[in-house]
Amino acid sequence: MKILMTGATGYIGSELLRMLPDEENQIIPIGFSNTHIHENVRNVDLTDFIKTNQYIKSVSPDIILHLAGSKDMAKCEADKIFSRRINFEASENIISQCFENKIKLIYISTDAVFDGVHKHDELSVAVPTTQYGKDKLATENLIRNNLIDFVIVRIGGIFGTKNDFVDEVYTKLKREGNFHAYVNLINNPTYIGDLCNMLRIIIEKEHRGIFHCAGSESLSRYDFALKIAEHFNFDTSLIIPEELDLSKDIRLANLSMDCIQTYTTLNYYPQSISKILKSNSVFDRKA
Ligand SMILES: NC(=O)c1ccc[n+]([C@@H]2O[C@H](COP(=O)([O-])OP(=O)(O)OC[C@H]3O[C@@H](n4cnc5c(N)ncnc54)[C@H](OP(=O)(O)O)[C@@H]3O)[C@@H](O)[C@H]2O)c1
Repeated sequence: MKILMTGATGYIGSELLRMLPDEENQIIPIGFSNTHIHENVRNVDLTDFIKTNQYIKSVSPDIILHLAGSKDMAKCEADKIFSRRINFEASENIISQCFENKIKLIYISTDAVFDGVHKHDELSVAVPTTQYGKDKLATENLIRNNLIDFVIVRIGGIFGTKNDFVDEVYTKLKREGNFHAYVNLINNPTYIGDLCNMLRIIIEKEHRGIFHCAGSESLSRYDFALKIAEHFNFDTSLIIPEELDLSKDIRLANLSMDCIQTYTTLNYYPQSISKILKSNSVFDRKA
């Protein structure tokens, strides 16, 4: 498959660019301002629709794996036009290209399309409360209403990448001897290796529809930090529980996702966080 990957220079894209290509899948990566990260990355501003469309036509991909956007929730809230432009209008243009040229679209979406109150599954009605969540959901809806060959992949906070939460906790424990973690922010941390494996299955088996490709555990930042401390043999009392004042913060309390239907359809079951930390050399560090 010839896969055009947007957002290939980002936090997730740069890892997938390393992990996803194989004999079956050729990745054609595009970025925006950080194209130096990889020799093959082309600079295409997705908000320049004419240039984007010319580029898509010149590549003629089988699949567009669309990751590009801004996940900076505070910036999206403060500048709704900015958020709409990159998180919705750029996607709207890609959707129309997929429609016109019969390209499959795999769209990476987010747990932030939900209300942040309850756990949701693939069929739940999404009611976002932030601009970021609203623009991501608007893109999802446009895809569902206009394309047949599409996949919407919702994920939780990614780890297993450079500068992830594991790294943040480890570095702070090592340098400062403690880590303050919120007890009232819950999600399903998503290991990048699991995301990559699930994407491979989706591509190979030609799946369509909405998938929750997140990790198997819904837990608070505090509980995640405890597991990280335990893994690196730090004393877990160094993790200090803290409550975030959600009345003054844009972040959402409970972004947990039910993923059972996705795991069953893909026949792929992510390991627990403790097992992931133990079984991947990327998490080998000394306390
Ligand atoms: N990270 C997470 O934990 C997480 C969780 C849930 C959902 N997601 C979703 O996953 C996707 C990728 O997330 P990420 O963490 O990798 O984001 P990121 O690190 O912020 O990367 C964003 C990507 O979008 C590109 N981009 C920004 N503006 C662009 C433009 N005008 N034209 C073309 N490309 C542009 C950036 O290019 P340059 O860097 O070259 O400027 C970068 O490659 C996002 O859609 C996000 O909603 C992420």
